[in-house]
Amino acid sequence: MDYKRSIIITGGAGFIGSHVVRLFANKYPDYKIICLDALTYAGNLANLKDVEEKPNYRFVKMDICDFDAVYALMQQEQVDGIIHLAAESHVDRSIKDPFTFARTNVLGTLSLLQAARLYWESLPEKYEGKRFYHISTDEVYGALEMTCPEGVEPPFTTKASSGKRHLAYGERFFTEDMKYQPHSPYSAAKASSDHFVRAFHDTYGLPVVVTNCSNNYGPYQFPEKLIPLFINNIRHRKPLPVYGKGENVRDWLYVEDHARAIDLIFHEGQDGDTYNIGGFNEWKNIDLIRVLIATVDRLLGRPEGADDDLITFVTDRAGHDLRYAIDSTKLQKELGWEPSLQFEEGIEKTVRWYLDHQDWLDNVTSGDYQKYYETMYAGR
Ligand code: NAD
Ligand code: DAU
Repeated sequence: MDYKRSIIITGGAGFIGSHVVRLFANKYPDYKIICLDALTYAGNLANLKDVEEKPNYRFVKMDICDFDAVYALMQQEQVDGIIHLAAESHVDRSIKDPFTFARTNVLGTLSLLQAARLYWESLPEKYEGKRFYHISTDEVYGALEMTCPEGVEPPFTTKASSGKRHLAYGERFFTEDMKYQPHSPYSAAKASSDHFVRAFHDTYGLPVVVTNCSNNYGPYQFPEKLIPLFINNIRHRKPLPVYGKGENVRDWLYVEDHARAIDLIFHEGQDGDTYNIGGFNEWKNIDLIRVLIATVDRLLGRPEGADDDLITFVTDRAGHDLRYAIDSTKLQKELGWEPSLQFEEGIEKTVRWYLDHQDWLDNVTSGDYQKYYETMYAGR
């Protein structure tokens, strides 16, 4: 079949990437969707079981740092779009092993940019109809303070959009024109990759778009991140290691809402532009953890408060950013996007998903998921 578009989604076997692959493979049967992933510890093909037999889907095990392989794949599949999510994504790991983050997030992004540039420049139509979409994080902007309007107690409601609540812990938000001030090796590497993407736009005219998103939550998130780790620990009555005093604030967005934004921006975003994507939904870690305990206990039929004593305050994360909060007014105004789920609804769906998919969690925590490629894909 002749496909209308041929798109590589890097990091498609990870948490957010798998939702993006699923959305694109289902919504656009006339697009060829190529999931390119190195299957590091964070890549799990079980996240994509429901799309693996679709005729418009192909999985390729590849390292984004392998420039020759990426270039050859672009030629072979006549790729006209790249949605780039592959990265090392966990802040705690970046503190222990910064080099891996520089390799994947910086050099890997550079390798993709160079492959896209050289391949597209070799075509008669060059950059026409092409798009390189780089997915980044709000962490590049650094940390915000928690200052509220006088006489107002946080969290307060602000900037309500279409009747939806926006919970905030401070008056300032990350906007697209803000200066980059990354603090962790993870965010420094992501910031560096963002600069390379913009440099390729400004220097070579590569048609790029960049988005910086807040914390995602939902199904298929690797259980080293706060929400899936804590749901699993509450279920098994294991301690919940809260960094510092649990005072840090994150802006949570349901992952399918992020995937919808990516779809919209891939198709309609302005060339060379940046869009912030956020949840309008700031939570102090300790309050969020209490919601998780209450939700898990209710769904498991345990008495209220039964697991409150699992909360264990531990040494704080080094360089722990105090508050992230996105202002996504630009995306809302220009492209009409806003989150569809209120947090209570999203967290209920998420907790239910993890409780119903203990097999998925067991597979990940035992390491068995890493055998899936060999059994399912060997020889394909
Ligand atoms: P993840 O860790 O769940 O998945 C990353 C994926 O990239 C995995 O499938 C992994 O195998 C793959 N990968 C890693 N190194 C690779 C390499 N060298 N070559 C090819 N593939 C490789 O990450 P996630 O949480 O889904 O995040 C995806 C992207 O979104 C990242 O770029 C991250 O910075 C960004 N982001 C994440 C969040 C969040 O809350 N999770 C928020 C904003 C932005
Ligand atoms: O803001 C977007 C970023 O969100 C993404 O770019 C990152 O890829 C993603 O990992 C996430 O980073 P965080 O560091 O905010 O997420 P994490 O789930 O690791 O932690 C959320 C908060 O919970 C943070 O303040 C640290 C705290 N925490 C985390 C863990 C894992 C704990 O208190 N205890 C824990 O065990």
